[in-house]
Amino acid sequence: ENGADFLVVANRLPVDLERMPDGTERWKHSPGGLVSALEPFLRTHSGAWIGWPGVADAEVDAFEEGGLQLHPVRLSADEVQDYYEGFSNGTLWPLYHDVVAPPAFHRHWWNAYTRVNQRFADATAKVAAQGATVWVQDYQLQLVPAMLREQRPDLKIGFFLHIPFPPVELFMQLPWRTEIIRGLLGADLVGFHRPGGAQNFLWLARRLVGLEPSRGAVGVRTRPGVVQVGDRTVRVGAFPISIDSAGLDALARRKDVQARAKQLREDLGNPKKILLGVDRLDYTKGIDVRLKALHELLEDGRIDPEDVAMVQLATPSRERVEHYKTMRGDIEQIVGRINGEFARVGRPVVHYLHQSVNREELAAFMSAADVMVVTPVRDGMNLVCKEYVATRYDLGGALVLSEFAGAASELTSAYLVNPHDLDGVKNALESALTIDPAEGRRRMRALRRQVLTHDVDRWARSFLEALGTQTAI
Ligand code: G6P
Repeated sequence: ENGADFLVVANRLPVDLERMPDGTERWKHSPGGLVSALEPFLRTHSGAWIGWPGVADAEVDAFEEGGLQLHPVRLSADEVQDYYEGFSNGTLWPLYHDVVAPPAFHRHWWNAYTRVNQRFADATAKVAAQGATVWVQDYQLQLVPAMLREQRPDLKIGFFLHIPFPPVELFMQLPWRTEIIRGLLGADLVGFHRPGGAQNFLWLARRLVGLEPSRGAVGVRTRPGVVQVGDRTVRVGAFPISIDSAGLDALARRKDVQARAKQLREDLGNPKKILLGVDRLDYTKGIDVRLKALHELLEDGRIDPEDVAMVQLATPSRERVEHYKTMRGDIEQIVGRINGEFARVGRPVVHYLHQSVNREELAAFMSAADVMVVTPVRDGMNLVCKEYVATRYDLGGALVLSEFAGAASELTSAYLVNPHDLDGVKNALESALTIDPAEGRRRMRALRRQVLTHDVDRWARSFLEALGTQTAI
């Protein structure tokens, strides 16, 4: 029986099963950066994708979609609660994002995480061909590399973390820190967005596994970029992810997309300037920061509410997790306050949509926006800012970007801000709103040079090359 030669293993499939109130089901595009980065790459390089279809207890057989072989992994309602909402998004997500919300540590969450990681490993072991390349993705599946190697030593296993890898002081809080490091060390290559993440991982491997006397059987040593686990070599490195830049550039140039952008401007009342935010509704994204900055600029009289409209697209996300509920309330309150004070009938200042939009609509919004505002307090990479740059083939628009997004080290011609410094954010917004067109073009040209030459294809190739995969890609 022939298995797959190239497999992606991720918590989510690229499509999400949606259950409608009337009981019918349909597939829709999954949210988030991981899928939007990997999907275009996978579609052009036939492979298999192993993941959860996004709802509990879904009985779905493997199926093919657009050249991709999709293998659903089933999660029970309890597992969704304990593994996905619990350990993944109530423990790891806040811990890895600099504890901007307090992480919770529960043993039953950890147990579910272990169990579900084993299920992903088993499912992968079943469909991988002899000597196949398996690429495991993100924080939800950090135990999979070792679990998979245990059953299938013939496989080439890569792991990539799509979120920040935290400073060692924070990681050390995790009661299961050693298990996680051991899980990751099952891979042949462990990739992070930033060199700092790779450094932290190397330190932890030495400290938590290398110096552990009771497990003396397998010695662990590290040198720059390498962990030696017995006779096995694990490479560790930084691979900053990106987007399908050319695809998005082409999409933005389409007549229908430009017409839609013009329509959006009109619908917004043809204000002098449009500000745009696009995020999953997540407390790491600093949506409140930009709203507060806008609010103060209006109060100070530095911005005239007749001149600007702000659009905030907030994709619903992890809605049953406590921090997400409170944050949603907070943000909706600020939106209400700004509009309460500064809107007039038929002319809100902030247009807030708690909805997800498709790629065409997204490109139209970005084409229409004079200033894109991206202010996360911590973000592994942030792809939205790269998407904005890719759509601005006209060299128009300006980007305000947080220093704490991974993308900031590449997009140095943006207006970089510290999201904790509200005055700084206000100044940057004001500069971006009043930018001299020649200066704007100069900055955008530099940003585009970076984004168009460093796309997701290059990212995936450099990772797979470092992994030494034999698969034709
Ligand atoms: C981030 C994570 C992904 C995740 C996505 C959407 O991009 O790195 O692993 O899939 O958010 O979040 P969700 O919890 O809806 O899958």
